[in-house]
Order: sequence, then C-alpha cells, then structure tokens
Amino acid sequence: MSEPQVDVILEACNMVKRYPGTIALNDVTFRAHRNKVNVLIGENGAGKSTLMRVLAGVESADQGCIYLNGSAIAVRSPLEASTHGIAIVHQELSVLPNLDLSENIFAGRELVKSGVFVDRGSQDVQSYAALERLRKPMPVKTQAARLSLGARQIVELARTLAHGAKVLILDEPTSALSMAEVDSLFRVIDELKQSGVTIIYISHRLHELLHLGDHFTVLRSGRVVGEAPRADVSRDWIVERMSGRVNAAADRDHIKPSKSATVLSVERLSLAASSGDEAAQAPVHDVSFKVRQGEILGVYGLLGSGRTELVEALAGCRKKSAGMIRLHEKIVRIESVPDAMNAGIMLVPEDRQRDGLIPDLTIRENMTMAATRGLFLNRTKETARAKQLVKDLNIAARNLELPVTTLSGGNQQKVLLARCLMCSPSVLLLDEPTRGVDVGAKAEIYRILRHLASQGMSILFTSSEIEETRALADRVIVLCQGGIAAEFADSEVTDEALFAAASPTVGTTATPLSGMPAL
Ligand SMILES: Nc1ncnc2c1ncn2[C@@H]1O[C@H](COP(=O)(O)OP(=O)(O)OP(=O)(O)O)[C@@H](O)[C@H]1O
Ligand SMILES: [Mg+2]
Repeated sequence: MSEPQVDVILEACNMVKRYPGTIALNDVTFRAHRNKVNVLIGENGAGKSTLMRVLAGVESADQGCIYLNGSAIAVRSPLEASTHGIAIVHQELSVLPNLDLSENIFAGRELVKSGVFVDRGSQDVQSYAALERLRKPMPVKTQAARLSLGARQIVELARTLAHGAKVLILDEPTSALSMAEVDSLFRVIDELKQSGVTIIYISHRLHELLHLGDHFTVLRSGRVVGEAPRADVSRDWIVERMSGRVNAAADRDHIKPSKSATVLSVERLSLAASSGDEAAQAPVHDVSFKVRQGEILGVYGLLGSGRTELVEALAGCRKKSAGMIRLHEKIVRIESVPDAMNAGIMLVPEDRQRDGLIPDLTIRENMTMAATRGLFLNRTKETARAKQLVKDLNIAARNLELPVTTLSGGNQQKVLLARCLMCSPSVLLLDEPTRGVDVGAKAEIYRILRHLASQGMSILFTSSEIEETRALADRVIVLCQGGIAAEFADSEVTDEALFAAASPTVGTTATPLSGMPAL
C-alpha cells in the first residue's frame, strides 16, 4: 500500500547531476516523510551527498524540481535553503578553526543587538544550550582548531540545533562519534522528531540505521533502487540493494597470530595535555602494551579517551612526555613523522581533511606521495602499484589523474589507506580505518588488513565502533580517560564488556542503545 502524499514534506523529483565523466544523479526522485527519520543509503559514490548538497542549496542540479509541502521551491543557495527551513550537517565538516565554538555556531547568522553589534552574550548562552542538549557541554570560548574531530562534529550539530530547522539533513553525523555520543545524538533526534522536525539521515552504520530509520531509500550509481518503510526493511534487504550482492558483511576468520615475536612495545607512555585545554585534548598516562608480529590490536575508547592522541604519538605527530617505544626490542626515538616512517611505522589518520589528503593533488599523487619521499622515483612501478591498490580496495576512481576531491567521502578514505600500504610499513596504525566507508568496502578493508597481518604486518587500530572492534581485532585494549581500563582477547569481547570498560565509572548516564537490533 503506498503512503498518502500528504506525508511527504520534501520531494526532489527527477534530479540529474553530471560531473565531468560521471552522472552522480541519474533521474533520482527522493521523498522525505514528515516527522520521520528518512534514511538514505548506498555504496561509496552512489550519489547521496550530491543529492543532499542539491537539497541544501550548496550545488545546483542540471535537471529536476524540489517541492516543499507540495509547492515547487527554488534552492539556489544555502541561505535560500535555510529560509525554507532546510539545514545540513555536511559529511566533510565545515567548522572554522580560527573561530571559537560560539562564533562557529553563529557564523554567517550572527545575532545582532541595537541593529549593529554582534550579541556575543546571547550567542554564547544559546551555543551552550545547544551543546548541552547534545550532552556535550564544552566551554564556548574554546578555539575550534583545538577540538578533536568528534568534538567538531558535535559543534556542527549544535549549529543546526541553534538555528532550528524543519528539515534537517545529517550526512554521516556519527562517523567520528562513539557509542555514548551516538546515544545522545539519537535521543536528540527523537526529541526533534517529537517537535516536528523531519530528518534525512545518511550513514554506513547499518545497525544505527535499523535502530533509527522510519523510511529507507537506497541509491546505487545515481539511481534509486529501493524505497520502503522500516517494517519492510532488513539488513539483507539493504545490502542486496546497495551492492546487488547478498551478505557482504565481514566474516570473522579465526586465524590467530601465532605466539610470534613482539614487534612494538610501548612502555609507560604519557602525553601531556598540549594546551591545558580540557575540551581539546585528552592526555594519556602511563600506558603500556605490546603488539606481536602479525597481530591486529584494537584500541577502543570513547571520544576524549586518548585513543587518537595515543596513535598520533606513536606516529610521531605528537610529543610524548614520558615513556619508551621499542621496535623489535630496540628503543626507537620517535620525535617526528619522518622518525616514525624511517622506523617503519605509518598512520592512516582519522581526519582526512586536516591531516591526510592534499586536495590540490591528483588521486595518484596522493597515493604515491609517501612512497616517493626522499627515495628514488620509479613512476611506472608506482603507478602500477597504485592501480593495483585501486583495484584491491575497489576505489571508485575513473581516472587517477583527477583531483582527489572529485572522489566521494568513502573513496577518499580508501586513498589514504592505499598511501600507507604503498610503503609496506612493519607497523600500520589506523585511526578509525573505515570512517565513512560503505559496508561492502568495509568487509574488503578488513580482509586486506587481515591478509597483511597474516603476512607479518603488525596492525594497531582505533575504532569508536564496537562492531568494527569485534570484527577486526585479535585483542582489544580499552582506553578510558587516558589510561588502559581493560584488555580482552577477541573471544572475550562483548558489547557490554567494551562499553562498561570504556565508560568513566561514576555518574555516567549513557547506556548502550536500547533495543538495537542484533546483526
Ligand atoms: N566535485 C566533484 N567533481 C567530480 N565528481 C564528483 C564531485 N563530487 C562528487 N563527484 C562524483 O559523484 C559521484 C557521487 O558522489 P557522492 O559524494 O554524492 O557519493 P556518496 O554517495 O555521498 O558516497 P560516500 O558514501 O563515499 O560519501 C562519485 O562518483 C563522485 O566521484
Ligand atoms: Mg557522501
């Protein structure tokens, strides 16, 4: 039975958007149902962000019409979108690093008093209220540059909350958040629904979508290939439509690393808070652990647990205040990124915009830049290797000589991984290795990482996703407030155990997502 049209608040009809060499939207008709969470899902490069950018006035379509409450509207700019009550939290965050949180939340729409003065007092109060609503009260005068990726994602959300919106588009809002933050966000989404807001929600985390979504639309290669209410949707329904394959989920194979030699040994490592600013940095104290040859060690922790700081220190991006790092028993001095690379340690960073990709370079240059660093240049060999990795990682790139920014978000993430794999490090560090990567490609990345481990590479990854931690790790250490709170062998890891170990003990209100469907 089709749902009555009156339920549709926003409709994009027959949308076409072409980029050179690509049809990102190929006659897409998408409906957002009033007061519902409308899920839009599809593989990396399917056209989801493009469609949302069109609805939010960031880009214009080549063809197609947008209807709000049944009337055609023009959405030629973000401002025009916001006059219609349409707001977006972009996949690639747009927090301005030099402004403080409150300035960021009101950037471009400053509150004014006496006709001319920016009303900073009211901005600060409203900003704080929005952050508090997201259960992340942070000092509103903190400079955004000092925030972690997850905290910046929360600022983006606070920005849309502070402005009020009738239709709120969230393009992968949880990609840098961990379970407690996601739980808060979901409560806010529920509250927004109750107060009459319609949500359009994009994510690759299927369990979240199944928990949250009311209505589902699946995009594949710029076309709608499925549309159904939640009652008719299952995990397999989604995966089959996304990829045309059934059950692309990763199967955990049970090949254990042998009791092999210790490759990386971290002894009593501590990092000082770099700026004395609590909202920005979590220090790490007195952390010791080992990674064996061929082992995949997972580091699980909530936002602010110190997980990113820890891997950054090992990769030479951050100075340690105490402790020692040994590689193959020998003490190594890691004071800089080149030090780490020379020792054979490489990091795939969490924030591909800030620390990773160089937007002006091509896909190939982004992939090969670390491998050519200071060594000889063998363009033919490098290009061949880059092409092979594009194939192995299934990177949807038509031409490696195009700028890396022409790739969709998930494919950019795969380029970063490819860059590190080109150098064949002996220790590979990954901070949120599949942030924004679709479910099929995730399985592929897990398979590749396991293969690399089976060939002797030692891998350490952080993840805010319990599902990912369980799928990939041979062993898990849990960080909480900068210290190791627990360690589990893969057979002992459960959602409850990880969550309990990762949560600060007293006064926490967060609980795991209740009623989340099992996968
Ligand atoms: N500025 C651009 N120039 C050229 N091609 C682009 C540009 N932006 C997007 N594309 C292409 O359009 C297609 C759709 O990209 P889009 O970003 O909408 O995908 P997506 O579904 O959001 O994927 P992801 O899950 O990886 O975020 C991709 O093939 C992408 O390479
Ligand atoms: Mg996208």
